[in-house]
Amino acid sequence: MDVLTISVAAMEAAASWRAEGLVQAFVPTMGALHEGHLSLLRIAASRADRVSVSIFVNPAQFGPGEDLDRYPRSPERDLEMLERAGADLVFMPSAGEIYPEGFCTWIEVEGMTERLCGAFRPGHFRGVATVCSILFGILRPDMAVFGRKDAQQLAVIRRMVRDLRLGVEIVAAPIVREPDGLAMSSRNAYLTGQERAQAPAIHRGLMRAASAAAGGQSVPAAALIGSFIDEVAGQPLLRIQYAELVDPDTMEPMQKLDRPGLLAVAVNAGSTRLIDNILLAPGRGALEVDP
Ligand code: PAF
Repeated sequence: MDVLTISVAAMEAAASWRAEGLVQAFVPTMGALHEGHLSLLRIAASRADRVSVSIFVNPAQFGPGEDLDRYPRSPERDLEMLERAGADLVFMPSAGEIYPEGFCTWIEVEGMTERLCGAFRPGHFRGVATVCSILFGILRPDMAVFGRKDAQQLAVIRRMVRDLRLGVEIVAAPIVREPDGLAMSSRNAYLTGQERAQAPAIHRGLMRAASAAAGGQSVPAAALIGSFIDEVAGQPLLRIQYAELVDPDTMEPMQKLDRPGLLAVAVNAGSTRLIDNILLAPGRGALEVDP
């Protein structure tokens, strides 16, 4: 496994794969890896000849007062995990390597980035879209794998790749959960014991909404959201930031579930912000989505 910190070196390594006709799948990460990331790697490895991974805590996607400074970092452990998981190349640039002196080009995906997480984290998706386009430009992967937990991020990246004709296939990977249903996230490490004990109510709430979705061919969004709220409201340490039914591709709000829709939620547990979602279909409930 090659561990590279300089863009030109990563560009050259990826270019040599292309010259050999090898297919590259890329997994962008911010490190502090867990089983969810490893599942992305497995999907990447099953579809490509070579797997590249980036570890970069991207300052441009954190707003003032957010957790950039305390974001968990475990580079040695990450590299051991990636070696064991069979990654071929790890790109670990510094902030100065990605955003050199004079950097002034930003990618704005308009509209869909202003809703849901974007409404509470102004500039977040601008930072995500920009860093992903830089990383795609360096590595030029054939495909990149993103987790469905960050459903809005996935939709934003898909839109960017389509609009800018970046020629990278975006592969969506299923959400990986702890045995009690909590979606895996590097930020779960921030939870206190009590917050961690209450956090699985988020998944239970989504499953309650899925039961409501199964009950009809046109289910009001308010009924689905209400089912979610009823479950989470029983947990005093959880505060819902948003719970919305949206179109999975455009993030436009849906008034009723009469076609597949995404119930997307953000919940604060103390100072930790947790996001989760479920794809619902009327008359069916939760939709299983293939990797
Ligand atoms: O999902 C993440 O970890 C980050 O947003 C990403 C895609 C690596 C960009 O920094």
